[in-house]
Amino acid sequence: MKKTARAHTNIALIKYWGKRDETLFLPTNSSLSITLDQFYTDTSVEFDETLDQDTFTLNNQPVSETERMKISRFLDKVRTFTGETRFCRVESINHVPTAAGFASSASGFSALAAASVKAAGTEATLEELSILARQGSGSASRSVYGGFVEWQMGEREDGLDSYAKQILPEGTFDVSVLSVEVSTEQKKILSREGMKRTVETSPFYQGWLDTVGEDLTHIKDAILHQDFTRMGEILEYNALKMHATTLGANPPFLYWQSATLKVMEEVQAMREKGLECYFTIDAGPNVKVITTPKAEKEIEKKLKSIDVVKEIYPCRVGPGISYID
Ligand code: DP6
Repeated sequence: MKKTARAHTNIALIKYWGKRDETLFLPTNSSLSITLDQFYTDTSVEFDETLDQDTFTLNNQPVSETERMKISRFLDKVRTFTGETRFCRVESINHVPTAAGFASSASGFSALAAASVKAAGTEATLEELSILARQGSGSASRSVYGGFVEWQMGEREDGLDSYAKQILPEGTFDVSVLSVEVSTEQKKILSREGMKRTVETSPFYQGWLDTVGEDLTHIKDAILHQDFTRMGEILEYNALKMHATTLGANPPFLYWQSATLKVMEEVQAMREKGLECYFTIDAGPNVKVITTPKAEKEIEKKLKSIDVVKEIYPCRVGPGISYID
């Protein structure tokens, strides 16, 4: 029984930045994201008793042994959850510009969780899928749902209360996300490594922990009231604060390049001229500009004229997991 699921990537407006349990992927803070409509992963899974190990192809190519093992360890969690004992064949197609630093682990593990549970013949709730996906990559817990999504950190040690929930469905509050690519180089410090070093060494991390809950409460209120300006102010503030923690890490690091700063400056300049837009940045140099559908075209044009900008990918609010067959 081969099953195929599709999951979209998401962009965090309130960042997940730090784990309290690295094995179970339990975060130190709750986070909030928008699921994006243009970037997604399609994953097919088929369990087969003739296989003596799990196999995995990404974009029709077999992956490295390290990557395969990572997927296989995740599938062990799926086997524990479903009671399935066979190995499986996994085929993933990424409709995400991976090299450009757009997170494909979120859509990847979310699609894999959904397809593998279905292929094992088990029914799971979205909450259960979010818990499973979380254990592949934290941000994947949020890609189970469409719209605006909150991943509640939970309190339990077993992680059973650490899952995402939708706070506003897609099609309710229309925002535009322009993914601005300034570099296609692979990340130097992966988010997993970067957040670990920050938690362990940055004296600024406590400041993050002390204030991120407040940011979340305020942005949720802004989203529920569809208050774009307030949402924008908070998301930009939260992103800058996350990146500030990395400067205090030991050894310190910074995900930005000079091109990143150029885009940030242009966003602030456009805003001063009355164009509604705000930026957020993940664990890499590319920038996501959040704007309104009305201002999108003009802002895209202005951003395109910056010499360091290589490509712009416009997105809107996207859907949660779907099954293709
Ligand atoms: C900066 O979910 O990629 O994008 O759980 O270790 O796989 P792991 O990390 P990951 O971290 C994402 C960090 C972030 C912020 C966010 O998406 O919330």
